[in-house]
Amino acid sequence: MLSRRNGILFIEEVSAVEIAEKYGTPVYITSKTQLEKNIKAYNQAFPDAEKLYAVKANNNLALMKIIASNGFGADVFSSGELYLALLAGFSREKMLFNGNSKRDDEIEMGILSGIKFSVDSIDELNTIQSIAEKEGREVEIAFRINPDIDPKTHPKIATGLKESKFGIPEEQAVKVYEMALSMKNVSPKGVHCHIGSQILETSPFVSAMRKIGKIAEEIEKLGIELEFLDIGGGLGIDYEGKGAITPEDLARDILPVFEEIRSSLRSDPKLWLEPGRSIVGNTTILLTRVNAVKKGYRNFVAVDAGFNLLIRPAMYGSYHRVLVANKEGGEEEIYTIVGPICESGDVLARDRKLPRVEKGDLIAILDTGAYGFSMSSQYNGRPRCAEVLVEGSRTALIRERESFGDLVCKQRIPEWI
Ligand code: LLP
Repeated sequence: MLSRRNGILFIEEVSAVEIAEKYGTPVYITSKTQLEKNIKAYNQAFPDAEKLYAVKANNNLALMKIIASNGFGADVFSSGELYLALLAGFSREKMLFNGNSKRDDEIEMGILSGIKFSVDSIDELNTIQSIAEKEGREVEIAFRINPDIDPKTHPKIATGLKESKFGIPEEQAVKVYEMALSMKNVSPKGVHCHIGSQILETSPFVSAMRKIGKIAEEIEKLGIELEFLDIGGGLGIDYEGKGAITPEDLARDILPVFEEIRSSLRSDPKLWLEPGRSIVGNTTILLTRVNAVKKGYRNFVAVDAGFNLLIRPAMYGSYHRVLVANKEGGEEEIYTIVGPICESGDVLARDRKLPRVEKGDLIAILDTGAYGFSMSSQYNGRPRCAEVLVEGSRTALIRERESFGDLVCKQRIPEWI
């Protein structure tokens, strides 16, 4: 997706310098070809599984339309994500409403949309039953099980440990499925777990698969006909350029375990996956312009994007590779790339060796397609940036840059002040 021509960074057949001139900076730039490559890798590795794209990773409609049109379903975590996923064209049959704290109106919207639910608590189960009864609907559900597995990733994105807020403890699984079976408008069809994100080994997935399989066996005894076993998302990507496991690696290690489980069951469930990062992460760069270079305790390069647009480094200490996009070669120096936000934590990349940087240069921050724009904010009164899609030599604006109007459009000043 990225190459150099006369020292200038190209995204597919388009120069980063041209994109910056045409659309301004900061700007997220996505390669459609890379996105399709990632989708294909999943479709080839898991031809028989249902792939549900995790909308939280990147909810741009144009990108989701590409993902939906390649046969993916959607994992949605709020009514807003459900709304966006429906607009993007994901099929309702392949949609799962996830989340540990759904409002009643969100549950109602999910039920009226006819999608399946991953239920995270007994309170949620009761709410689903009562709304479904009122609406005269039957709701297909799975319970999210907390399998207590260490995914060996950043603690903030490990979601299947005992102390995590997600899921129902394994030992309560049989009880909650029994409860669901006794309800008129709820129909248990699956088992769900999601153990974490940016996971770089297949073994935690294999352990999760086995745990889910054990629960499947137990609850089948209650008379449940299982339609899906969902092991969530979490496959990591290669942020550091050192290699990472691929969908193919994951398939090689979990499909035999899944088949073993399936053959031991009476019912014939499908495998479900919920990839987010590994679909969109490496498709996108954040292109940002240098406002100032300052020598001090460190050599600071101050750019026009900060944690308002990419919070991952500040929030998780995440590493993103950084390039100077408008030139290559020459003398190198060590720089720390910082944003324009009024906090010392607004560091995008620390101590990176780059060709000498000057005001006006362009910096590309790589692998920012997942949890980049989707976690952005307007902090410090900064309207969010534009998003651009590239395919070959064509480009299209897929999200307009926000304006000052977007900072005020929902605000009201009471007449009594
Ligand atoms: N399914 C569920 C229920 C999830 O909660 C998540 C992510 C996924 C699937 C997709 O996981 P993925 O394949 O993208 O790893 N903001 C953090 C990541 C948070 C992940 C939240 N849940 C980051 O920037 O690293």
